[in-house]
Amino acid sequence: MSQIIDTNNLPKHIAITMDGNGRWAESKGKIRAFGHKNGVKAVRDTVEAAAEIGIKFLTLYAFSTENWSRPKSEINALMSLLVSAINKETKTLMNNNIKLSTIGATDSLPSKAKKELNEAIEETKGNTRMTLILALSYSGRWEILNATKNLIADGINHEKINEQIFQQYLTTKSVPDPELLIRTSGEYRISNFLLWQIAYSELYFTNRLWPDFRRQDLEKAILNYQNRERRFGKTKKQIQN
Ligand code: IPE
Ligand code: IPE
Ligand code: MG
Repeated sequence: MSQIIDTNNLPKHIAITMDGNGRWAESKGKIRAFGHKNGVKAVRDTVEAAAEIGIKFLTLYAFSTENWSRPKSEINALMSLLVSAINKETKTLMNNNIKLSTIGATDSLPSKAKKELNEAIEETKGNTRMTLILALSYSGRWEILNATKNLIADGINHEKINEQIFQQYLTTKSVPDPELLIRTSGEYRISNFLLWQIAYSELYFTNRLWPDFRRQDLEKAILNYQNRERRFGKTKKQIQN
């Protein structure tokens, strides 16, 4: 790599929409589930790389609310893959001092997946190097609606509601907003991911299909991020002073 990552300017939180598994498999004449299976390798490589680089939070969009509309056979394949991947990779998380957590309506997952997830979350809860957040049965609108319902259920006076309080009702309440959002597979859309949290995220799109995504791709995205000027509505001059 010609440029070196500046460790003083790392995003604390990177979010990734892991897209393109189906097309990757289809391009090889295989069924879509083969692509999901190979996506796990990309997850392992990316998670390890992110922790080594010094990223504190990594959120992976693994299954959206809308993905429940896929064919039953594909959903089943994804759910059993989730179970086997968590089972196998908890060791990787322990070796790398990585804590696992989830966002989304995880209650709606099959009980086997819930059990596997809960065990891994429990086992890794003392880990401190990085937090890996899996977005499962997640959508941004679901989350915002949920937050609103809970604010009302708690009887919070409408006069008191501000961004800070609202944020406390989101599933990401203890996590800073992602500075960088990556999406693979050449799709330029958000697909209901972290709608509130990405208000000022830098967006990075790559044509790489998720099963081919590796450490170098993550490094490339971070370098690209480090060459941007984040202005948050201010002028260039204000930012540079
Ligand atoms: C991403 O790959 C994985 C999930 C959404 C679960 P896709 O399955 O969306 O793959 P493409 O976009 O059809 O290629
Ligand atoms: C977004 O990918 C969800 C995940 C990667 C989990 P999709 O493949 O479901 O998104 P669309 O349908 O192309 O927008
Ligand atoms: Mg897709």
